[in-house]
Amino acid sequence: MLERIKRTASFIQNKVDFTPEIGIILGTGLGGLVDSIDIKVALDYTDIPDFPVSTVQGHHGRLIFGMLGGKRVVAMQGRFHHYEGYPTQEVVFPVRVMRMLGIKRLFVSNASGGINTSFRTGDLMVITDHINLLPNPLIGPNIEELGPRFPDMHNCYDKDMIALATKVSDDLGIKLQYGVYVGGTGPTFETQAEYRYFKAIGGDTAGMSTTPEVIAARHMGIPVFAVSVITNCGLSDEPGDHEDVQRQGAKAGVRMTQLFIEMINRL
Ligand code: HPA
Repeated sequence: MLERIKRTASFIQNKVDFTPEIGIILGTGLGGLVDSIDIKVALDYTDIPDFPVSTVQGHHGRLIFGMLGGKRVVAMQGRFHHYEGYPTQEVVFPVRVMRMLGIKRLFVSNASGGINTSFRTGDLMVITDHINLLPNPLIGPNIEELGPRFPDMHNCYDKDMIALATKVSDDLGIKLQYGVYVGGTGPTFETQAEYRYFKAIGGDTAGMSTTPEVIAARHMGIPVFAVSVITNCGLSDEPGDHEDVQRQGAKAGVRMTQLFIEMINRL
């Protein structure tokens, strides 16, 4: 695995004369942030040897290198999900490649279903902690060069970056919620009983991504900041709908983009 990560990183380095400081993973309907990047190079995932290829509608599947908020960034427009059939070790492959390329911090976004009843569709929730119900991507032989066998998960979501988000949101007048993200397998949206279960175990939102990538990043010691866009309210009577998730994501994504850019600007 390590050889494959290094091989892919050096393939990219040969194509792109650019050392990113910040990695960004964009969730469903949230690819609009890319329009704010002064793009130097964009690589289709299909053109990167060893990269998995995303199949979900609404995911473009490009690795984008450029300037954002005055910093050098690499953004994944479209991510890989376990529900597409990828083992979580594959899901986290790009995060490990981004580390090899030089990133020092990771920003993550996702669409998710609110289960905290004070949340509304379109709210942004800063993830303060998570409950991972997906297979842990670190299962298997540990890659010592990347990190320890038993990584600590305190401060999984970087407290300083959360404090910065609070400051920036005050300054920009963006309302933020805070809470715990529950990462499940999907692809079904949860049953009403499952949403109640997620709430009972301490969750505020339910999604199908993020926890594997965050675990892999923390394994490598990368500070992480993550936001959930609440695209539906799980405990309401409204059925979950992928197109609605994309629509709500695109709308709320504008505020998420502002937040990310200004945070990156002030780092
Ligand atoms: N559950 C899981 N994943 C999701 C949801 C949800 O309600 N909404 C958007 N992604």
